[in-house]
Amino acid sequence: MNPTLATRPAHSTGDLFKPIQRDLEIAERILRETIESGEPGVSRLINHLSHYRGKRLRPALLLLTARACGAVERPHHVLAAVVEMIHTATLVHDDVLDGASVRRHVATVNAGWGNQASILLGDYLFTHAFHLTSTLGEARACRLIGEATNRLCAGELHQICQRGNFDLAEEAYFDIIEGKTAELTSCCCRLGALYSGMDDDMVERLASYGRYLGLAFQIADDLLDLVGEERSVGKSLGSDLEQGKMTLPLIYLMHSASGEKTRRVLELLKNPANHKREQLAPELAACGAIAYARRRAEEFATQAAAQLVGLPSSECKSILEHLTDRVVNRDN
Ligand code: FPP
Ligand code: MG
Repeated sequence: MNPTLATRPAHSTGDLFKPIQRDLEIAERILRETIESGEPGVSRLINHLSHYRGKRLRPALLLLTARACGAVERPHHVLAAVVEMIHTATLVHDDVLDGASVRRHVATVNAGWGNQASILLGDYLFTHAFHLTSTLGEARACRLIGEATNRLCAGELHQICQRGNFDLAEEAYFDIIEGKTAELTSCCCRLGALYSGMDDDMVERLASYGRYLGLAFQIADDLLDLVGEERSVGKSLGSDLEQGKMTLPLIYLMHSASGEKTRRVLELLKNPANHKREQLAPELAACGAIAYARRRAEEFATQAAAQLVGLPSSECKSILEHLTDRVVNRDN
């Protein structure tokens, strides 16, 4: 099959990241040169990843934090390439786990080449990321990235273990998204600040910024999976429902229902047939679950912005502030 399904629309973060555009391009070049392969089959797989170009949120967070704290140096560019490589690896693996067929408006690697090639491509990216980090010649970045990716995997494992648990508690959901998403966004900001020579207090604040931002981002992502438009989001939606993964609006719906309604919602959630999204949408809107999840995402975004107090005013600080709004109010 031809894995390219559609033309990808221009990304809205392009202008927002203008002050670090050059840095993003350097990081992109390091990424490309690191993973290139002389073997034509492998090369085709790697080339397909260029269609996965997304919001570049993680390298941008690292570079924006670095610039807001001082100058961007070679280690920042290398680390920006590393975090994007790790993020891409997790998406390639995640699409296998979710059985997803579309990501960023193109066919997923698993849809085009199958699960075996996808797992190995994810491993290839992941191991390259650690090797590239080691070229910085010090253990600090390897340790931080190792810790963050370890927690990321633990979050994903926690999620898998809770699949089909329709009585999932909110705390368990927050624990899952903190691991699978917020650990890496936090690590990006920590690395940006650390490698710009910030003091411990500011490094911790910026790491908290990244953590709150990641939590807000994932809640918004989970909302899109339930009520987004596949055309604008550009990836397979409804997969949380198909996979029996309880996200914040669903947890709210289950906990706000009682008696006959609980039984009806449970039946819908357990039903292997399609159309769950369509059937659950009115229930989610009527009980206030969508509004509730949005509010929680906005609260985390506000907490993220509060961590930036104390950082000197700059263009990149303003972008970090603006991002707290952008991660919640988006349609892709
Ligand atoms: C997207 O979640 C997935 C993640 C944020 C993390 C996935 C991590 C793994 C599969 C484990 C580790 C893999 C490696 C190589 C370390 P989602 O399914 O909610 O988002 P989506 O809608 O974009 O698919
Ligand atoms: Mg997924």
